[in-house]
Amino acid sequence: MLKDCVLSKERTEKGLVLWLTGLSGSGKSTLAEKLYDEFDRLGKKVERLDGDVLRGVFPNTGFSKEARDEHIKRVGFMASRLEYHGVIVIASFISPYRAARDFVRNLCKNFIEIHVKASLDECKRRDVKGLYKKVLSGEIKSFTGIDDPYEEPVQPEISVDTEHQTVEQSAAQIMAYLKPYLQG
Ligand SMILES: Nc1ncnc2c1ncn2[C@@H]1O[C@H](COP(=O)(O)OP(=O)(O)O)[C@@H](O)[C@H]1O
Ligand SMILES: [Mg+2]
Repeated sequence: MLKDCVLSKERTEKGLVLWLTGLSGSGKSTLAEKLYDEFDRLGKKVERLDGDVLRGVFPNTGFSKEARDEHIKRVGFMASRLEYHGVIVIASFISPYRAARDFVRNLCKNFIEIHVKASLDECKRRDVKGLYKKVLSGEIKSFTGIDDPYEEPVQPEISVDTEHQTVEQSAAQIMAYLKPYLQG
């Protein structure tokens, strides 16, 4: 059921899945919020799916490879259905496994993988939610980038360097990439 994932104007008007992947604290949710506002301003139908929000709704979602894969496949399926109905979906999930991301890519028509890239040191320095501190103290295990894998995208459509860019610059880079497909 591998589908053609090539961007085309006609298809984009029918929906788009922007898949933000990266380490905890790399900037996925911050960028997702910013992008949401941009699309809203343009009058587009837009929806956000965010890892923390989904885990809040389904608190039994675990962090084993199996649990993470299932989580991503479920939300990826939802994203593909929203896309089918003409929505621009902004999905922000660590989604550490390449195969699970590719599974979602194959469900979608217009899947744009966005690597939200900051070094582990920078993410630790930011420690937005105090999670890296908890990892250090041993309170949290199976943490992506520390004692759990993060498989970087090999050929993402977009890679934003959030370590050296402002939020505005990263958002502008993404919007510039999408511009040809958002007209009309
Ligand atoms: N270019 C950038 N893009 C996104 N976030 C950035 C950027 N530069 C700095 N930040 C900061 O990094 C932090 C990222 O936190 P968050 O968005 O919660 O990460 P994640 O959702 O990936 O765990 C925020 O405090 C944000 O202001
Ligand atoms: Mg987040």
